[in-house]
Order: sequence, then C-alpha cells, then structure tokens
Amino acid sequence: MPGFKTLPGFRDLYPDDLAVRAHIMGTWREVARRYGFREYDGPPLEPLGLYTEKSGPEIVQQLYNFTDKGEREVALRPEMTPTLARMVGARANGLRKPIKWFAIPQLFRYERQQRGRLREHFQLNMDIVGEGTVAADAELLAAAIDVLRAFGLTHEDFVARVSDRHFLRAIFVGAGVPAERLTLAYNIVDKLEREGAAAIRKRLVDTVGIETASADRILDALNRTSLKEVEDLVGENEWLHPDFLDLKDLFDRLRAMDLEAYVQIDLSVVRGLAYYTGTVFELFDRRGELRAICGGGRYDDLLSQISGVDLPALGFGMGDVVLTELLKDRGLLPKSGQGIDYYLVAEDYELRHVLLRTVHQLRDAGCSVEYSLGLALRNRQFKEASALGARKVVVVTAEDAARGSVPIPELSS
Ligand code: HAM
Repeated sequence: MPGFKTLPGFRDLYPDDLAVRAHIMGTWREVARRYGFREYDGPPLEPLGLYTEKSGPEIVQQLYNFTDKGEREVALRPEMTPTLARMVGARANGLRKPIKWFAIPQLFRYERQQRGRLREHFQLNMDIVGEGTVAADAELLAAAIDVLRAFGLTHEDFVARVSDRHFLRAIFVGAGVPAERLTLAYNIVDKLEREGAAAIRKRLVDTVGIETASADRILDALNRTSLKEVEDLVGENEWLHPDFLDLKDLFDRLRAMDLEAYVQIDLSVVRGLAYYTGTVFELFDRRGELRAICGGGRYDDLLSQISGVDLPALGFGMGDVVLTELLKDRGLLPKSGQGIDYYLVAEDYELRHVLLRTVHQLRDAGCSVEYSLGLALRNRQFKEASALGARKVVVVTAEDAARGSVPIPELSS
C-alpha cells in the first residue's frame, strides 16, 4: 500500500475543520459588507512576471512556479494584490472611485512550515483604490480591526502596530541613510523584534554604512511606541513635522471611531513586500505568541507599475491560519457539529414508504432531516438521532400509515 500523505504545509479539511473555515469566511464577508466592499476573484495561476518584478525578493523565493505545457512561465498566486492591480487597471476608466473590493483567495507560498505558516492559506483581502487621502487609511485599518472584533476578540487580545514609510524615510534620511540604501535599511530594521537592538545597530553601521550615533538615532525613533513619544520626537526635530501629519491624522480618526485602544505606533513595522509607499500596519496577538494575523498598507505606485494606470491604493491581507489558532486559544470558535431538525424513526420496516414520503415533504419544506439508511433497530435509531443532534425525533407508526399522515411536532415547542 503506498502511503500517500498530504504534502508538507497542506491541509486535509474534515467537516469540523471546514465548519471553522465557513465561520471565518462568513464573518469576513459580513464585515466587508458592513463597510460596503464588493467581492471579486481572479485566477489562481498567473504569469510568473506578475510577482517577480513587483512583490520583492521575500515572496519570490517562496513561489510555486513552473513552465506550463505551452512554455509559459507561471506561478500559483502567493498573494492577491498584483492580480487586483491588473484587474482594476484593465477597467480603471469605467469603475466608480473609490473602488472598494474584497476577495478571499487561496494562496500558495513555499515557506518553511511552522506554527501559523503553511504552504497554502486563505486570505481575506480588502483594498481601496482611487483614494489618496488618509481618510481611506483610517477606514481600512478600522475594517481590519472590526473584522477581528466581529469574532469576539478585544483590544486585550490583539493590537494593530502602525507605521508610515514616508515618516520612516524622513527619519532615515535625517540620520544620513543614502536614498539608494533605504530599502536595505528598511529590511534590516524589519527584523528588530526578532534580532534585538544590538544586532540591528551593528548591521546598520556595517551594511548601510552610517555612524553608530546615527544608528542609535534610528533605534531611538523605532523604540517610541506611543503617539506622545513620537510627537515629542517630532517636536525636537521640526523638519520631521510635515511627514508626521498623516500618521497623526490617522490616529485622530481612529480615536474618533473609538478604536484608539486597538492601535499603537511602531515604526519598526516596515513590511516585507516591496511595493508599500505610505501607511503600513500589522495586527498581532497581544501575548506575542503568534505570527502576524494581518498585514497591509498603502501602495500608491503599484497600479501604474503593473497596468500603467496611476491610481493610489491601499489594502490588507488577513490569513485564516493564525486567526484560527488565536480563536482556538481564546475559546472563540463555534461548537462543532451542526445538529439537524428532525430524525424520523420507522416503528417497523414495512413503514419505510410512509417514512420516506414524510422525510421528503419535510426536506421540501426546508427542514434538515435524517433517518436510518440501514436496517437499524429502533434503539439504534434513537441513538443515532441523539448523536446527530436532532432537535425532534418523530416515530412513524402503523396508525400514521393507516391515517395517511404523520403528525410533525413544531420545532420551537
Ligand atoms: P502578507 O503580510 O504577506 O501581505 O500576508 C498577510 C497575512 O496573510 C499575514 O499576516 C498572515 O496572516 C497571512 N499569511 C501570509 N503568509 C502565510 C502563510 N504562509 N501561511 C499562513 N498565513 C499566511 C500580503 O499578502 C499583501 N498582499 C496584503 C495586502 C493586500 N496588501 C495590500 N493589499
């Protein structure tokens, strides 16, 4: 017997698992609806070039790519954003702005399998295209937070860490990082939490080539996690002021929405993807036990790069894997087993035709109904009814057959 197993990082979803996923996707769709987003989808297989040029090196290393039978270089989609950029670009003129769309694609990344990271996952994507003001950033971040709130999570469970690449750029340039080494410097500080301040300082000095004092100025900025601390920094360095206005406005707007407790400034959030240009954010569990639940930001140049249409855009992706772990840890997953409305028991095998007719009439009326397909004894049928979570058990009797109708109890009674 060959031992066929699932590939590493892929999942078999048994009905209880699928019930969890259905709950997650249902909640995603419900919050997207509340915010007025419309659902779209695209192909799971795309031209390789869509990712190799725009997404940055991290995702390219993780591509599932191959040459198809028509000699095309193709890849399973590792993310949705390039597809969205292409789709919107192709019809940009005919679409009313701002475009608010969401999708729930299955994505594939050849990652090292670990807690919260698999080689396929489903990801809620919510994106706004055609609105360049910070009002859209606030709307989108609020949506990401409200998605998690809709699962019963609170500010004690998770936090959105927010940064802004414009502001970060001003800090880095002010500390003497040359423009052509900014991306390098961003990628270094992106690892601050994992590698610690000493390692990051050393790499900024050795690799980016700045003075130790400049590296310390950068680290000092990255350490400021409250709005007040960052405002103090801006106060001491007036030239940072213009690049701070958007971030400040974003926080003011979230405060107006009563979501202040859910957001925190964290300038070390850079995001691995290359295309972000402004606000960037990631949502994490407060206990710091899990990988990021959600990540996103503004990518104002991607549409023109992919489709030649110059439209500002922003969005986020939230995967089902970390979210499921978090909901499980917090006891917020719905109970498994769906239950049924009626289970019909035939008192006698001879009554099976009456039973079948009644079952079918009830199903036609929209009820979920089960009965024993085998020749189970009466007792076994009752046991099965209970195992299935039947709300009512109906016994079909010889009197029912003689009368030509089976009395059906109300479900609510
Ligand atoms: P991302 O940060 O690569 O962003 O992924 C977003 C989220 O997807 C992560 O926070 C995580 O929950 C989930 N995720 C990513 N990779 C995996 C994996 N291997 N296994 C399980 N879950 C995973 C993007 O993909 C951007 N395209 C999001 C975006 C949309 N930005 C703008 N619009």
